[in-house]
Order: sequence, then structure tokens, then C-alpha cells
Amino acid sequence: MRIDRVEATSIFDTRGRATVETTLFAHTFSATASVPSGKSTGEYEACELRDPDGGVTRAVANVNGEIARALTGQRFESLDALDAFLVSLDGTPDKSRLGANALLSVSIAAMRLSALLEGVPLWGAIAKRAGTTPAAPRLYVNVMNGGAHASFKLPFQEYILVISGETPSAFSMAQEMFTKLGERLGRVPMGDEGGYAPTFDTLERPFELLAELVKEFPNTSIAIDAAASQLFHDDTYRLLGKSYTPEELARLYKSLAARFPIDSIEDPYDENAHTDFTRLTAMIGEKILIIGDDLTVTNPTRIKEAARNKEINSVLIKPNQIGTVGEALQAVREVSAARLKTIASHRSGETEDTFIADFAYGVGAYGLKAGGFAQKERLLKYNRLVAIGDEAGTV
Ligand code: PGA
Ligand code: ZN
Repeated sequence: MRIDRVEATSIFDTRGRATVETTLFAHTFSATASVPSGKSTGEYEACELRDPDGGVTRAVANVNGEIARALTGQRFESLDALDAFLVSLDGTPDKSRLGANALLSVSIAAMRLSALLEGVPLWGAIAKRAGTTPAAPRLYVNVMNGGAHASFKLPFQEYILVISGETPSAFSMAQEMFTKLGERLGRVPMGDEGGYAPTFDTLERPFELLAELVKEFPNTSIAIDAAASQLFHDDTYRLLGKSYTPEELARLYKSLAARFPIDSIEDPYDENAHTDFTRLTAMIGEKILIIGDDLTVTNPTRIKEAARNKEINSVLIKPNQIGTVGEALQAVREVSAARLKTIASHRSGETEDTFIADFAYGVGAYGLKAGGFAQKERLLKYNRLVAIGDEAGTV
């Protein structure tokens, strides 16, 4: 593939913060990609380059300047070669020189452009590149937002409905559940990921509410993202004003998993608490998914390590945690090689880019986390998944 022109600009994400959008041109074709941005970010994520005032002028300037000069007129044998070139151009281990946000916008746009040039759907091009079998993921719909996404109103960051089945019916079932939950909660604020942001007096209440809903709908269950790095202070975890030791927290998770239809717990411990992860996975990992996010940060090396120590049995994959599509696909390969499950994920600051839906379908991910239904940017991902299902039936 030969790139004729590179153009980047800054757009606003769902939080009204600036993020990078890049368009690549080849022949008469062009492809645009924009990158999401996290708030409860992992310590070991690749560096999102921000100006001191929070803007992305430097990241955009890096795409329009150094990256554009290096790519324009260049022919790349493969997308992997292009991504490797971007990584080496940056030259730092955490992509802090040019910015992982700058690099990923180019990497996704290149993947999209290449699919266009080949005349194949994006999810098909991703599957071919990754050597995976495309399949529809389960929907992980974040219906109640807490933690860093809603001023820490709820004990855990995310309360999720997990819905399996054919995408269109799973999607409409999820919407019905979302509406019903809203009616039961009454007027409450909304959180960063397009879900409700209520307050509860007890740890159990949100689980009871969701369990009642799950009982009414087949093939559904509950998931949480504890995002526990955010709860960790002075060697203990704070939940609703009470402190838990790692052992006490393990007992709490075990009892919640025994009483409620829980599918998974993401980041149950701080990102550096490796032995606590291993103990919990040994304790309840046969029954539910223990998912690494801040723990593994889509980093192939960290995933390998966590798998070897049996810290988790599933991994969240967020391309912007690592900075190129090629490395995110390598992370998926590590997950499969270790026989763990892949859950593809959006970020709490999102754009209208639906790449993550194609990514989830293309790699045949077990699940897709794309937020609640009160924000268009989240809905677009689910809608794209429905459209992919139609495309897959015809191509
Ligand atoms: P973030 O949250 O995008 O703010 O990091 C999402 C998550 O923790 O899964
Ligand atoms: Zn998470």
C-alpha cells in the first residue's frame, strides 16, 4: 500500500475533550479514524500525548509533521510493516515521543484504507490479518456507571448486563432491559459511558436490581468492572466507606458470585497486586471470568506474564492502550495462545469511530464492551455490529 497524503486534526470526544482524528489518502480513496481516551487508565498503558492544557495539538502536529513526512509516498509491504515502522519511528518503549494517540489514529486509518483498497469489509480484513475466525461477540452493556466515570457514586466502576445470542435480538433485548432499569431507578444522573449513575446504600442493592432484570430475560447475566486500582489506598480497598483487605475482598467477590448470576469481574484488584489476582482466579475462576484490564493493558508481554501466573482467565483488549492495531492483534494472539478469552473494549471517552465493533467481530472476540445506550457514540458501535451481521450474511 502506498499512502499519498496524511491529514490530522483534533475533534472532541464524549467528555468534550480533544482527541486525534487522522485521514489517509491513496489513489481516489480515503479513510478516517479517530481515537478514544480513557479516564481510569492503567499505569502501564502506552502514553497518550497531551498538551499541558489537556489538548492534543502536539499529537496532531506529530501526525501532520514527522509522521506525514515519513509515510507520504512510501510503499509498505503489509500493514504489519507499516505499524512496525510507526513504532520504530517513535522509538520509545511507551510511545511517549510521538504519542500512542497519534500513532493509533494512523494505524487504524491505514487498516481501514487497506480494506477499502481491497474491497473487503473492515472486519474481514482484520480477521485475515489476525488469522482469526470472525464471530459475533456477546454484548457487555455498561448500564450503571460509577467510579471515575461518575464521581465515585457507586462502589464499583461498571455494572454491566451481558447478553448473548444473535446481535439484533441481543441488542433489542439489551435496550428493553436498559429502559426497564431506567424506569426502576427513576430520575438519576447519567455517567461518562452512557449508563445511569445512581447511588445505593448497600453493596448488594445494584446486584439485586440487575438480578431481577436478568431473571426476566433469557441468556443474560451480570458483570462488573471493579477498576480496583482506583479503590486501592494504603494497602486496602475502599468500598462505600469501608476498608477491605485483599483477603476480605476475595471473600466478598466469592459471596457475590454465589448469590447473583455473575458472568465476570474485571480488574478485581490493583494493577500491581499479582498474587491477589492469582488467588482469586484459583478460588472462583472456574465459575466466572476474571478479566485483566489495567493489569494487562493490551500489552503482549504483560498478557503472557499474567497468563503464566494464572492471574486471570480473560483479557480486555483496548487498542489505544498499546498504540497500534498490529500490537493489539498480537495481544489477541497471546490471549488465544494462553487459551484465555478476549473481550474487546471501547474507552470512557469515545468518538463516532466504530472500529472496535469490526475489531471484536473480526477477531471473534468472546465479548464487546461498548457502554450504555444514552450516548450516540456507544450506540453506533452496537449498530455497526448489527450491520456487520448483515454484511457477513452476504459476503
Ligand atoms: P477507561 O475505563 O476508559 O476510563 O479507562 C474503562 C475501563 O476501565 O474498562
Ligand atoms: Zn476496566
